[in-house]
Formats: sequence, structure tokens, C-alpha cells
Amino acid sequence: MQSSFTLPFFQISLFVGTTVAICPGFNFGIGNIRALGGGVNRWDVFNNTCNVVDGLTTNINPCTQGIFACSPPPMIFNGYTNTLTGLRYACRTDANSGTCGGTIVSVC
Ligand SMILES: *[C@@H]1O[C@H](CO)[C@@H](O)[C@H](O)[C@H]1NC(C)=O
Repeated sequence: MQSSFTLPFFQISLFVGTTVAICPGFNFGIGNIRALGGGVNRWDVFNNTCNVVDGLTTNINPCTQGIFACSPPPMIFNGYTNTLTGLRYACRTDANSGTCGGTIVSVC
């Protein structure tokens, strides 16, 4: 089954090139969808210094893989479970969150 996901784009255009780290106070940032080809998509999870520390690569719904929790439409990632520690984090969008390479859609 083909699913489609709409993520907010406003933050990307607003903050491209303006910051290189996630705002202090947040542990993680979740990047925007990256299409890897063949219907496979990748979401990176960045730590506070913009190193990729976790993430999900899948060709199906990222909301049902256990790592991310999603809000009702307009969909954002509102939860993240660290795959190394198993700790759960609450996530939200934040206008001051900063970016990692121009793509942070939620901060946790
Ligand atoms: C982010 O992850 C990198 C690579 O694992 C690590 O070296 C760095 O200390 C981490 N930064 C923070 C703030 O945890």
C-alpha cells in the first residue's frame, strides 16, 4: 500500500543556512524526509551538535515502525524512541529549533 506524508516545509525555507545546531534544551532533532530511491525513504535523527545518531530507513509508514510517533494531520513527529537506549522523548515543531543542514522538522 502506498502512503504519502506531508511534513511542514515552512521551517526549512525559513531557516536554511541560518543555524548549524539544534537549540539548547532539546536532545534531538528529526530531519525531513529524504527519498533514497526505489520508494525507500530515510529520516535522520540528529543530536544537539547535528551528528546523525539514529534514524529510520523504510519504504512504509514511518509512524508504525516503533521509533517515531506521529500526530494527526497535519502530521508531525510528536514522539521519538531512541533505538539504542529505548528512552522515549516527546517531540514538537519549534520555530527556534535551528537546523542541521536545513532539515529539522521536529525537536525532542
Ligand atoms: C553527538 O554525537 C556525536 C557522535 O556520536 C558525539 O561525538 C557528540 O558528542 C554528540 N553531541 C552531544 C551534544 O551529545
